[in-house]
Amino acid sequence: MNNKEKLENAIKNCWDDNESNEFNIDNPVVRLHEPTFNADEIIAFTNQMLTTRVTMGEKVKEFEKKYCNKYSYGHGVSNNSGSSANLLMLSVLTSKLTKDNLKKGDEIILPALTWSTTVWPVIQMGLVPVYVDCDLNTFNMDSNKIEDAISEKTRAIFSVPIYGNPCEMDDILSICKKHNLMLIEDCCESMGAKFKDKYVGSFGRIASFSFYYSHHITTLEGGICVTNDHDLAEMMRIVRAHGWVRQVENREKWTNLYKDFDPKFLFVNDGYNLRITEPQAAMGLLQIDKIDGFIKSRQNNAKKYFAELESLSDFFSFQITTKNAENTHFGFPMILKNDDFFTRNEICEFLNKNGIETRPIIAGNLARQPANDLFEHRVSGKLNNSDHIMDNGFSVGVHQSLSGDAINYVTGKIKEFISLRVK
Ligand SMILES: Cc1ncc(COP(=O)(O)O)c(C=O)c1O
Repeated sequence: MNNKEKLENAIKNCWDDNESNEFNIDNPVVRLHEPTFNADEIIAFTNQMLTTRVTMGEKVKEFEKKYCNKYSYGHGVSNNSGSSANLLMLSVLTSKLTKDNLKKGDEIILPALTWSTTVWPVIQMGLVPVYVDCDLNTFNMDSNKIEDAISEKTRAIFSVPIYGNPCEMDDILSICKKHNLMLIEDCCESMGAKFKDKYVGSFGRIASFSFYYSHHITTLEGGICVTNDHDLAEMMRIVRAHGWVRQVENREKWTNLYKDFDPKFLFVNDGYNLRITEPQAAMGLLQIDKIDGFIKSRQNNAKKYFAELESLSDFFSFQITTKNAENTHFGFPMILKNDDFFTRNEICEFLNKNGIETRPIIAGNLARQPANDLFEHRVSGKLNNSDHIMDNGFSVGVHQSLSGDAINYVTGKIKEFISLRVK
């Protein structure tokens, strides 16, 4: 056996030595998430380290290509998180080098119920977020409320499919068309989800995804922006790496414009360092092969939860998948309808005591978070549904490794709690 084989075997053995995360009724633990990677990815990561080619290069390009091929996206520009992907999109869309660029003070319509870093990059680019309430069934921004939010300053809609559930894209696209608005998609929770057989991320000018540890697949931290616009993709390659032209596909376009500069050290825009690394891309390449299986498991798990909990609809409402859409279930959310018998915190405490992890629904109503007071923003209408979900919602894990026994345990504990509280 050569050293490489010995190393790979050692990694496999160490992985097998890990404490099992299989559900055990004698010591029940049901986490919100379990890793999507195993010894295969650790070996790929380690082997990439051993090549010493670690900073962004050919593996990253291969990873971007494979992700785009899988979902028929035109161009992919990966980076170091879903938050960075949002920052990169907004940064490029506001660049003076981008055609029809967004300008300081322009308003961007987005859902109040979302994650913080949907909103912060909007603010960071000098744009003004306009919060719209969500629909209580789908949890997505209510498309019937979008037109009321439009002002003379509105330039774009930032749509966010929440918890794997696609937005009503026909409505959103027709509003964009009618009012000449750009569509930007934050798909960080919704990899592989479809509306009318078209994948989320392919409806707008540009879209983001996250490969954070608890998402559908992971590169530990990581994200990607996708677009069919080659110029935007090239701009993202520039902004991702220092404002530098080094990693664009068509470097001559820029070096011919600025012949007096060293072509390797030409900066044409402001920028960041948002790069992902080669070992992460090496593990990501393996993860892409596993996405379909992971998504199937999440969908089957959500079905099992529904089947077991449907009878509790006097107490809870559940996320309803958008019509003509396929949901890829980021978590299993439940909203307590009222606190006549118990509160959200009481049931969560009971579940937590019994080894079942719970969490709030994303960041709740972002317009209520203290950070929001520091910045210019606008609220369109009332945000009652987002408040209701923030105050009464929680979710449990629906991840790829959840067993039928674990789901039965969770649903059994929910029913037990109700029988204790409702006489
Ligand atoms: C809607 C949404 N946008 C952006 C992000 C940020 O992704 P990341 O955690 O990879 O930075 C998340 C994270 O879960 C998210 O849910």
